[in-house]
Amino acid sequence: MPDEALETIARALVAPTKGILAADESTGTIEKRLKSIEVESTEEKRRSYREMLFTTPGLGDHISGVILYDETIRQSTKDGVPFPKVLEDAGIIPGIKVDTGAKALAGAEGEKVTEGLDGLRERLAEYRELGAKFTKWRAVIAIEGEKIPSAYCIHVNSHALARFAALSQEAELVPIVEPEVLMDGSHTLERCYEVTEATLEAVFNELFSQRVVYEGMLLKPNMVISGKECPQQASSEEVAKATIRCFGGVVPAAVPGIVFLSGGQGDEEATANLNAMNALGPHPWELSFSYGRALQAPSLKAWKGDDANAQAGQEALAHRARMNGAAREGSYSSELEKELAAV
Ligand code: 13P
Repeated sequence: MPDEALETIARALVAPTKGILAADESTGTIEKRLKSIEVESTEEKRRSYREMLFTTPGLGDHISGVILYDETIRQSTKDGVPFPKVLEDAGIIPGIKVDTGAKALAGAEGEKVTEGLDGLRERLAEYRELGAKFTKWRAVIAIEGEKIPSAYCIHVNSHALARFAALSQEAELVPIVEPEVLMDGSHTLERCYEVTEATLEAVFNELFSQRVVYEGMLLKPNMVISGKECPQQASSEEVAKATIRCFGGVVPAAVPGIVFLSGGQGDEEATANLNAMNALGPHPWELSFSYGRALQAPSLKAWKGDDANAQAGQEALAHRARMNGAAREGSYSSELEKELAAV
């Protein structure tokens, strides 16, 4: 029987014109992001950056949920309000990344498996206490020539994703299942299609075997897209058509929503691709976003590590959230981008 409480949260996360802000960069990843604006990654800098993001006026208009990291879910504003409460007060659902990262996969050079299952049941109970309503686990699947990914890599990552999802649902937390086929490399859109299809098929086989309730979960995948180094870059329309066709065959209609990652796409590119998919609708699932870089990049640049620029950083984030809100309905355009950038 579908669990109604889980389904209600999953559906709220993909409510019309809204999507998810992924702000769950691990300490290593946020260090890289801060370095790109020449800011040293101290706990206080990470806290003030996230406070700037989460206190953006009107953030809840187009952001349904925010994914936090272990350090972040325990932090507060400088006035002492815990971040999960700040988000709840803004009508935004707090969530948490629960994997502990992708590590080298034994016997499979160049491939990774995501860790974090040991003690997960206990950690989930604690995150619930801290206010989380949903969880995320990211598996990474690389493409390299004909040999990578191996069936072995796809299998172990799918198995771990399903174990994570089953434990999350047991704890009354909505799992966001993220199998990311990486954009790195010179592979074609067709190769990405083939690997994404095989990965999603394996993931849903494991989810089914491990009794995960589709109605109470969300899928966070890559789009079917050309490799970053591929000389032939597919247009938004081509990405949209290939992605919808691929997912139509392997993602059950009972899954309430698909929330794409941006994975290194430019921020406007990620918005245009999502828009093109929704313009082809209706689809069996809501098609939404759970972007990290594509929502945060302009905001990070405007903030520059200085609280004096907090308003500029917040305006940049609110703008991207608004643009992606329009892409949820297929009403985004480059004219809208320019027109509202000035507002
Ligand atoms: P990007 O949108 O930057 O790929 O981040 C999404 C995410 O949560 C990766 O795990």
